[in-house]
Amino acid sequence: MAFTVAIDGPAAAGKGTISKAVAARFGFAHLDTGLLYRAVGAKVIAGADPVEAALALQPDDLAGEGLRSPAVADAASRVAAIPDVRAVLVEFQRAFARREGGAVLDGRDIGTVICPEAEVKLFVTASPDARAGRRYAELVERGMEATPEGVLADVEARDARDSGRAVAPLRPAEGAVVIDTSGLTVADAVAAATAVVRAVLDGRG
Ligand code: DC
Repeated sequence: MAFTVAIDGPAAAGKGTISKAVAARFGFAHLDTGLLYRAVGAKVIAGADPVEAALALQPDDLAGEGLRSPAVADAASRVAAIPDVRAVLVEFQRAFARREGGAVLDGRDIGTVICPEAEVKLFVTASPDARAGRRYAELVERGMEATPEGVLADVEARDARDSGRAVAPLRPAEGAVVIDTSGLTVADAVAAATAVVRAVLDGRG
């Protein structure tokens, strides 16, 4: 059985946490599609051509703490605006989405472009302040240099680029259930997402 849960939303809204929890709860495979763009961004920082980097992507490229740095996030958001880079990555994501046994994909364009036929579409969002606050705490915990103002500026710049680009801009898919996590605990946000998936699964009998 193919069953796709598409989870889109801006940076640091809680998509990753919710996706992992939903995948674990229902036994679905999980793909963090931001990692694909981060891996391409990291290769571009190292001097590669963006499209060549996307074509040469290997599973091993998706691992490693280095992909989590603000510099790589910024490079990812830049390469993600290149139509040919997105085109190279589409088929892999579509195949993952329709694999047997169910899949959760989180990103920016999963419900709009990669898998508009997804059985469940969620748009997970939060205020820029809430998202920047979480991202700042995360960076400090990992011992990385950051200031609250700098992180907020980065979050807003990335939002503007991800939402304003011509190809596959960030926006809620038609029929997506919006979950605003600004005032929610992690447990409440996960419970809200899980309830949506459960309702659709029950409705299928
Ligand atoms: O989710 P993330 O922060 O790891 O994503 C990094 C960048 O990759 C993000 O700024 C935009 C881009 N991205 C995208 O354009 N489409 C996706 N499906 C996932 C990420």
